[in-house]
Amino acid sequence: MLSPLGFALLRRLSDGKLHSGEALAAATGVTRARVSQILRASESAGFTLERVRGVGYRLVDPVPFLDREAIVAALGAMASRLKIEVADSVDSTSTELLRRAARQDVDHQVLVAEWQTGGRGRRGRNWTAVAGGSLTFSLGWRFEQGAGFLAGLSLAVGVALGRALDAAGFEDIQLKWPNDLVYRHCKIGGILIEISGDALGPALAVIGVGLNVRLPARARHDIAQPVTDLAAIDRERALDRNRLLAIILAELYAVLERYARDGFAAFVAEWQRRHSLQKKPVRVLLPDGSVAAGEVVGVDASGALVLDQRGRRIRFVSGEVSLRRG
Ligand code: BTN
Repeated sequence: MLSPLGFALLRRLSDGKLHSGEALAAATGVTRARVSQILRASESAGFTLERVRGVGYRLVDPVPFLDREAIVAALGAMASRLKIEVADSVDSTSTELLRRAARQDVDHQVLVAEWQTGGRGRRGRNWTAVAGGSLTFSLGWRFEQGAGFLAGLSLAVGVALGRALDAAGFEDIQLKWPNDLVYRHCKIGGILIEISGDALGPALAVIGVGLNVRLPARARHDIAQPVTDLAAIDRERALDRNRLLAIILAELYAVLERYARDGFAAFVAEWQRRHSLQKKPVRVLLPDGSVAAGEVVGVDASGALVLDQRGRRIRFVSGEVSLRRG
C-alpha cells in the first residue's frame, strides 16, 4: 500500500537520480529504516527501485508525477473553466465525485488520481491501474436534459478521446463499441459514465476515463483480456501524462458543449470512422448466454449498435451485451 509519505518519497525520486537514505529521511522527517520500509511497500504499487548499497535509492524507469501546475499550464486559458484537483490516491475518482455530488457542486470538476485502490470498470468489473503508469480521472458535467438524452454520451466521450490521442501523437487508436479504446484490437483505455438526476433533467454525468500509459507485465496479468499501453506506441510521448491530460480535457470540453446542444447525432459519422469493427463480422454476447452474429452497420443517434443479420437490421443497446470480433 502507498501512504502519503510513500508518495512524498516517490515524488523526490521521480527525477531518476540517486538519493541517499539520509537525505530522503531528512526531507520527510522519518528514520532511514522507515524510508526503506515505505519504499519497499511502494513496489507493490508498480514502481521498481534500484537500491545501491551505501549510496541510496533510484527509481528505475522514472516517470514525471501528475502535477496540477503542469496540467493548468498546458491547458492555458481553458484551465479557468475547470476545477482541477490532483490526488495521490483515492478508491476511485468516479466514486469520489459521486460521493461529493451529494453535498457540493461537482459540475466542471476534474479529479485525477495517481493511484486508485478500487478503480471500477463497466459491468461491475475492476479497473486495474498502476501509480505512475496509468491516467485515471473523472469529470463532473451537468446537463439540463435528462438521462435519456445522455444515452450516447459515452460514445461521444470516445470521440473526444480519439481526437485527443491523435493530437497528442498516438495514431491509430480506435474505438470499440460501446466505449473501449483499442490499439490493434488490444484494450488501451475505457470510459465509464454514471448519471444521477431526474429522467427529465437536469442530470449530472460523472465521466470516468482510464488509460493504460505504461503498464508493467505484472499488472497485465491481472487483466482478463488482451491489453496494451501508450508506451507501446510511443514511449517518449507516453511519459508526459500532464500534457496528455490537458489535451484530453480540452477536447472533452468541446465535445461536451456540442453534445449538450446537438446530442450524439453530431458525432455518429466520426464515431463510425473511428470504430475498429465498422463493417466487420461480429458476435454479440447477450445476458442470457445467447449469441447474435452479423456485420456491423454502425451506430444510431442514441449510440445503439446496428447489425446486419442476413439483410435484417438489429439494434443493441450497450447495457449488458458485449461485442466480439466475428
Ligand atoms: C471500462 O472499460 O470498463 C471502463 C473503465 C473506466 C475506468 C475509469 S478510471 C477513472 C474512473 N474511476 C473509476 O473507478 N473508473 C473510471
